[in-house]
Amino acid sequence: MIPVVVDTRAVTDAMRRPVRDLRVSVTDRCNFRCRYCMPAEIFNREYEFLKRDLLLSFEEIVILARAFESLGVQKIRLTGGEPLLRKGIEQLVAMLAGATGCEVTLTTNGSLLARKAEALASAGLARVTVSLDSVDEATFMAMNDVGFPVASVLSGIEVASRAGLPVKVNAVVKRGVNDSGVVDMARHFRGTGHILRFIEYMDVGATNGWRMDDVVPAAELVRTIDAEFPIEPVAPNYRGEVATRWRYVDGAGEIGFIASVTQPFCATCTRARISAEGMLYTCLFAFTGTDFRRILRSGAGQKELIRTIRRVWKARDDRYSEIRSEATVDIPKIEMSYIGG
Ligand code: GTP
Ligand code: 5AD
Ligand code: SF4
Ligand code: SF4
Repeated sequence: MIPVVVDTRAVTDAMRRPVRDLRVSVTDRCNFRCRYCMPAEIFNREYEFLKRDLLLSFEEIVILARAFESLGVQKIRLTGGEPLLRKGIEQLVAMLAGATGCEVTLTTNGSLLARKAEALASAGLARVTVSLDSVDEATFMAMNDVGFPVASVLSGIEVASRAGLPVKVNAVVKRGVNDSGVVDMARHFRGTGHILRFIEYMDVGATNGWRMDDVVPAAELVRTIDAEFPIEPVAPNYRGEVATRWRYVDGAGEIGFIASVTQPFCATCTRARISAEGMLYTCLFAFTGTDFRRILRSGAGQKELIRTIRRVWKARDDRYSEIRSEATVDIPKIEMSYIGG
């Protein structure tokens, strides 16, 4: 028999972008109902969440992660839904940290972080990103739509920080909803060492009723913050970094802005996404993907996985945010809670 030779060199796509980040959604469920992500009137009724046996197992995730690593992935981000709702998530972190050389990170809504941070840090989590859209109680409760209090998220952040995890805080800004609170957010996190990043509200999924008028451009947010607390730009940490970095002139630390709508960063996008049921998507706005659960469960070995990922990635030409227009907003898209944020 002729041995099958597998090309494991780093792969680049049709626009010469390597694959560097793997974002793995571990559940499509969440205990929040943020209006811009999982509006309650839809997700509490007609939406069908994935059944347990349809989710990739931890072992399957690790096998996939190793295949991606051999093609160039250096960072793995666990997402959801809310990843801390997945039972034993700290075991997955330990398995990934043990089986790969990748930096393992996680994005969470913070509601269970105070309980889980210590175990996650011990398991080898490198850092954590917490979503928090406002430090104003009424605004935050209205945005998460389950009446979850700000203080519990803040305590999760503090416990994580004390456990040694560097923390970033992500805030999606929606005009007329939480934009009047951005200076208070900056004031709260300046000087704490936690990096606050404001994100432009995007047209992900098909349920949030997105309109361009709801987006507060990052340039406007920069002016608002700068008027209160002068800031100056800082060079990116790495090519293709999603957030533009700024620092407070008075030395109170760093703040960032993610201009995914007004200044798209597709040209340097190195992110692959695996949904909780094992579909590989090459763009946050993709509608079709490749079913890796089927491939894994049909007994494929590492070589076949690597070959398939290589083939998919080589053909990748996604650049949705660069071609977004009124016409693209209504094309079918997958929910962010399913594909991972
Ligand atoms: P680090 O730089 O490693 O801290 O992480 P990151 O900024 O890549 O990850 P994070 O999950 O914090 O991303 C922040 C937000 O940016 C996400 O919640 C999305 O709203 C947005 N975002 C991240 N990746 C993409 C992407 O590929 N495309 C678009 N359009 N938006 C993205
Ligand atoms: N636009 C921008 N960011 C979003 N997120 C969820 N939905 C949207 C959207 N429509 C972000 C959350 C969180 C991450 C998981 O994705 O705020 O930080
Ligand atoms: Fe849950 Fe995050 Fe979506 Fe909010 S944005 S509903 S916390 S997955
Ligand atoms: Fe990457 Fe797609 Fe986001 Fe562009 S829109 S940055 S290609 S995930």
